[in-house]
Amino acid sequence: MFDLTGRTALVTGAGQGVGRGIAESLASQGAKVAINDLFEERAADAADAIKSAGGVAMAAAFDVSDYGAVTAGVTAIEAELGDLDILVNNAGVPPGMGVGQFRETKPEEWRKQIDLNTYGVMNCSHAVVNGMCDRGYGRIVTISSGAGTTGIPLGVSAYGAGKGGGIAFMRHLAMEVARNGVTANTVALGMIDNHTDPSVTAHMAKTVPVGFCAQPEHIAPCVVYLVSEEAKWMTGQTLQLNGGNVTT
Ligand SMILES: NC(=O)c1ccc[n+]([C@@H]2O[C@H](COP(=O)([O-])OP(=O)(O)OC[C@H]3O[C@@H](n4cnc5c(N)ncnc54)[C@H](O)[C@@H]3O)[C@@H](O)[C@H]2O)c1
Repeated sequence: MFDLTGRTALVTGAGQGVGRGIAESLASQGAKVAINDLFEERAADAADAIKSAGGVAMAAAFDVSDYGAVTAGVTAIEAELGDLDILVNNAGVPPGMGVGQFRETKPEEWRKQIDLNTYGVMNCSHAVVNGMCDRGYGRIVTISSGAGTTGIPLGVSAYGAGKGGGIAFMRHLAMEVARNGVTANTVALGMIDNHTDPSVTAHMAKTVPVGFCAQPEHIAPCVVYLVSEEAKWMTGQTLQLNGGNVTT
């Protein structure tokens, strides 16, 4: 089950964190994987790790919020690895992202979040979806956040708006391509354990019903399922993967 041999995947923002974990899991299931990141070194490092483990991977550094860069990147990936069957829109945290109450933010800070979390998802999806529809097979997964559907007072309103835009877009895309063998789903994550200060992680873990924050290995298996042949009846959904928090 969930064998991805012969499939080609692009995972965005996969130079570290959750995206890297997803890319490694797709490769271990047999997919050829293009590792995108804004930072070339991160992408190269993650691709090298997959190749060292016996998988097939290439680094593909570009900014997902730049449509021209995305289409050029997809062309280069397809020339080297073959037509893309799988897209995982994971890039979602702008470098140096801070938090701040909306009343104290500036419009240029909002734009970064919408550009990355809504336009980034639309850009990458647009670059691959026609080919997927023409070939009659495709899997698009967007990694979102509970902040895209649920209000929280932590000072991430623009991030939440960008994530919510991605969720809404994916629901519509799923309906438009459902008869073409292409599925489109979103995974809305809760608290991830990627903080350098263990006391922050420990504090955050208290708010998670299962009592711990997620590692990439808690996310990747869900994505492996969603991009598999077996998941053909799963589309248009937003899965809450968050250690048990009930969201609206
Ligand atoms: N960390 C959390 O607690 C959390 C919670 C909910 C959802 N998420 C979501 O999970 C996903 C992964 O998060 P993470 O914690 O692993 O993030 P991370 O910051 O560890 O890694 C994200 C990667 O994306 C890259 N990136 C940023 N902007 C980019 C761009 N414009 N183009 C290409 N690459 C770009 C970064 O360079 C980085 O390597 C994101 O979509 C994030 O919004 C994270």
